[in-house]
Amino acid sequence: MAEKNVAEILNSNPLLQEIQLKGWVRTFRSNRFIALNDGSTINNIQCVIDFENTPEEILKRINTGAAIALKGILAESQGRGQSVEIQVSEIEILGDSNPDEYPIQPKKHSFEFLRENAHLRMRTNTFSAVMRVRSKLSFAVHKYFQENGFNYVNTPIITGSDAEGAGEMFRVTNFEDNKAPVTEDGKIDYSKDFFGKETNLTVSGQLEAETFAMSLGKAYTFGPTFRAENSNTTRHLAEFWMIEPEVAFMDLSGNMDLAEDFIKSVINDVLNTCKDDLAFLDQRLTQEEKSKPQAQRSEMSLLEKLKFVVDNNFKRVSYTEAIDILRNSKPNKKKKFQFPINEWGADLQSEHERFLVEKHFKCPVILFDYPANIKAFYMRLNDDGKTVRAMDVLFPGIGEIVGGSQREERYDVLVEKMKALDIPEEELWWYLDLRKFGTAVHSGFGLGFERLVQFATGMNNIRDVIPFPRTPQNADF
Ligand code: 4AD
Ligand code: MG
Repeated sequence: MAEKNVAEILNSNPLLQEIQLKGWVRTFRSNRFIALNDGSTINNIQCVIDFENTPEEILKRINTGAAIALKGILAESQGRGQSVEIQVSEIEILGDSNPDEYPIQPKKHSFEFLRENAHLRMRTNTFSAVMRVRSKLSFAVHKYFQENGFNYVNTPIITGSDAEGAGEMFRVTNFEDNKAPVTEDGKIDYSKDFFGKETNLTVSGQLEAETFAMSLGKAYTFGPTFRAENSNTTRHLAEFWMIEPEVAFMDLSGNMDLAEDFIKSVINDVLNTCKDDLAFLDQRLTQEEKSKPQAQRSEMSLLEKLKFVVDNNFKRVSYTEAIDILRNSKPNKKKKFQFPINEWGADLQSEHERFLVEKHFKCPVILFDYPANIKAFYMRLNDDGKTVRAMDVLFPGIGEIVGGSQREERYDVLVEKMKALDIPEEELWWYLDLRKFGTAVHSGFGLGFERLVQFATGMNNIRDVIPFPRTPQNADF
């Protein structure tokens, strides 16, 4: 007798065959009907017990959350809501679940409560769907790059340099508490630490990825990334996964084409591979939207949003144009922005990004050519001497999903920039070498994987699209 998972059984099985399966009880009604889920699909399978011939001790142990093994016959269902069911001939309780203690009851739990029970929340419809979509998206990312000639590179997680120059890193040290040696001037002496220097968890694999672009031509990273900024928002994690492609001989316009094609391709992929889960998440979001005031409701359902992104061009707008739009916008004139836009050079906050995407253009937007002094040191300076070849991709409901640029490939210009920003040349000598030996135009970007999963699943809080979120004051599990 074949053992099958629920997805296989629901998909392709002829009726009347004998089947055995294992899973967890979601609900048990009328001492007869088990809704069984094994994680292979959002759908439960109904399993009908012959309760007259099932001992009372067994019936009592069929509780929500219990692990069970079943044998039975697959049959057309008599009841409503499903086309097939299993008429159970044998049942074995593999692992009990005490109904007075099991936290995941068959009712609606708040996301806050489920975060506190993150080890069990994947047993709910919403989180199992999100995590399956996350898995498929992750595969789609690799598929896209592998099919387009990119090499997957694993850049270091412990690093001695601060790629973004933003002082928001987690220190890695082997010194014992209160026993760190100090130098004569009273500072901690990292030359005596494990690596003989100050080291941190990486904020980006970009600089190392550039060495691969400048040798293998096309490279991408997909790995854990750490930022110690104290941002308690629905878009920030202290530990997240970033995808960073980097390509030689590609300029900013090629970079925009790549980002757009890549995002469309992976979204299209999950539209095809995650139909059941996305249909469920679409319904979930529609329900959630109904509880909001009319004016705040999204005009499109989740599936409509995903199809919209796949089918429409992203709008490409220069920073300068965006500032004009924002300066003359209603919320700016009515002083509704927390950070009013008065002049060119202002850094854009998420309220501005979301206005551009959600209210003004109503589609994904790629902003480019930002002022040099609000962007990182490695971005290529334009001929105007004041803007750099930067690009941010902004998404509805998310804000910034991608940040990237054409890289400064001119040795002298880069050195001058590093001097101006006090970035030590000794530390990045190897990065400068790329500009000394066979330098060339090259570009790349970073996409925050969790923000992509948020967009694809319609989940509002980034803590709900990563298995075990790390945020300020929280590193449980
Ligand atoms: O814009 P960022 O900081 O760019 C870089 O790190 C570049 N080195 C990338 C490159 O050019 N190779 O980060 C890139 C993306 C952001 O657009 C956002 O999607 C995501 O990473 N991100 C975060 N996601 C979750 N939590 C955080 N704290 C994030 N910070 C950035
Ligand atoms: Mg950015």
